[in-house]
Amino acid sequence: MISTLLSRLSRGTDGAPAPRLAYGADYNPEQWPREVWEEDVRLMREAGVNIVSVGIFSWARVQPAADVWDFGWLDDVMDLLHANGVGVDLATATASPPPWLTTAHPEILPVTDRGETLWPGARQHWRPTSPVFREHALRLVRELAARYAGHPALVAWHVSNELGCHNVYDYSDDAARAFRDWLRGRYATLDALNHAWGTAFWSQRYSDWEQILPPRLAASHPNPTQQLDFKRFSSDALKDHLRAEREILRELTPDIPVTTNFMVMPGIKGMNYADWAAEVDFVANDHYVVPGPRDRDELSFSANLTSGIAGGRPWFLMEHSTSAVNWQPVNLAKEPGELARDSLTHVAHGADAVCFFQWRQSAAGAEKYHSAMVPHTGADSDLFRAVTALGDTLRTLAPVAGSEREPAEVGILFDWESWWASEQDSHPTSLLDYHREALDWYSALLSLGIRADVVPTGADLGRHRVVIAPVLHLVTAELAKELTRYTEQGGHLVTTYFSGVVDENDHVWLGGYPGALRDLLGIRIEEFGPLPDGRTVEVEGVGSGALWTDRITVTAPGTEVLAHYGTGAQAGRPAVTRRATGGGSAAYVSTRLGADGLAALLPRLLEPAGVGSDLPAEVRGRVEATVRRGPGGRFLFLVNRTDETVAVPGLTGQVLTGGTGDEGAVVLAPRGVAVLRTTTG
Ligand code: GAL
Repeated sequence: MISTLLSRLSRGTDGAPAPRLAYGADYNPEQWPREVWEEDVRLMREAGVNIVSVGIFSWARVQPAADVWDFGWLDDVMDLLHANGVGVDLATATASPPPWLTTAHPEILPVTDRGETLWPGARQHWRPTSPVFREHALRLVRELAARYAGHPALVAWHVSNELGCHNVYDYSDDAARAFRDWLRGRYATLDALNHAWGTAFWSQRYSDWEQILPPRLAASHPNPTQQLDFKRFSSDALKDHLRAEREILRELTPDIPVTTNFMVMPGIKGMNYADWAAEVDFVANDHYVVPGPRDRDELSFSANLTSGIAGGRPWFLMEHSTSAVNWQPVNLAKEPGELARDSLTHVAHGADAVCFFQWRQSAAGAEKYHSAMVPHTGADSDLFRAVTALGDTLRTLAPVAGSEREPAEVGILFDWESWWASEQDSHPTSLLDYHREALDWYSALLSLGIRADVVPTGADLGRHRVVIAPVLHLVTAELAKELTRYTEQGGHLVTTYFSGVVDENDHVWLGGYPGALRDLLGIRIEEFGPLPDGRTVEVEGVGSGALWTDRITVTAPGTEVLAHYGTGAQAGRPAVTRRATGGGSAAYVSTRLGADGLAALLPRLLEPAGVGSDLPAEVRGRVEATVRRGPGGRFLFLVNRTDETVAVPGLTGQVLTGGTGDEGAVVLAPRGVAVLRTTTG
């Protein structure tokens, strides 16, 4: 459906749809006088902008009182944008309820686990489960959809905004009621719930549904399955809100695709986007770089996972920043070249749209120091020149539009339920970080120049010769079967510490760890050996391990030990094992090796699958390569991860962007990106 959107944005000279990449931003004209809008559209044309998201925070403006509507200004904005060739991704405006609504209905305000109310004054101060909020929000959606159905500027719907950014966990009485309904749907009987929650423990047995509460602040660790179910429920409650808005939009504007902006980015964990993806007509994502030693890897990882969630199909980068944000402790400006490299890394991973928060930097409000496409300085600025240059580059990349990612031989499995379950409290260690472990593997592969797809559970594993499943903690009987089948059919599975340990109820698979994966891996662990913070152990021939160790006994013939512990309590015992299965293998890494240790180990793990790098040895680790393939051809993206010029020799193809050097080498400027068409469509 993203193709429908792209073709609405541009027509070829013959009037036929000529898809190109979309380029734009959140546009908040309500913050500016009318004369500024004229300059906005002129600059949008100059920058090559062809789409903007409008109305995201305009509820108070379009509905200034319960029964008063004011669409005149928005009509004007829509008409003006259309007249200037800019399509509109129109927001349903429900993200931030207006003061009149919260004053009349304070019962829509979210409540923390400590019983504190989150008051109005910022944004997203609504309970996902409030029937009163839902009624008012849906009324607004209906008014907007009815008014703009058929408007030529309208190319997509933008439901709410970053659902769950600030309000995913609400512990109010509305949430308690909805949680009970959700639990009834999941378990049907109290007996089943009591079993799943293990309520024989600590006298927690429920004898009436009304006794059940969200996991509010308690005297000690709340029931772990209650916590896990509350996470599932909270993600589902927002998904339900998304669906409710979407149904109205589909009813009134059946031809307009509907999306909402996900947040596959650092620090956001509450929404199971793998589960949400089927609810939208195309996947859209927001991503902000959190500066740090691995921020390059993280950006690529998030973009890659977004592509995985989108099933490898093109997706929409709804927000990122041209330079600094306003919400980190210190907000760093981007260096020259970073704006384009960040954007094009997303495109390399399947984005068909590059959009920013926001078009014009605000003069007032909490985000006035957040960068934008038009900065406070105005259009006569290096930043706006970089924005315009990126618009030109995106135009030259028009043939890429619509192409999908070419599956990589390696897949990294990313599983929201394991993320949630593995990091709960009262565990062997509180230092485990699911996302960091997954990123370690990804970084190691990047440093070796090996392409990998990050895919959610449920994706077709058979597309990858190797599947790496870091900390796959929660494994259902079906998933265990699927992984076994995968290795029997020739696939090579690699998993790590604390995997296979619990089922969907967070009950331990008994008989020895790694529980559900014990037979497949051919090992048995009687006791975990987590390490104190800062303590490491030697893993012979590999590096040092941190965080975790296991006391492993090899149980199945055909299981080899790839590396032993050299020091610590497990010295001399297996640290890394691999069992040969019918044609494939199942390997286990029992400690946190970090990106460097994993880079040392990976060649041995990948060897039976015959997987290696496609890049010339001298650029591995310095250049990231991705491949997209579609009607316009096969495209090789080369992203320079360094601040120096890098020449990539031995490539053939048409260079769409990036330089050419001696003997046809593709020359990447510092932080530069090149795109080659290696075959035509
Ligand atoms: C996003 C949000 C935008 C803006 C941006 C700032 O979370 O959707 O409205 O606040 O962050 O980085």
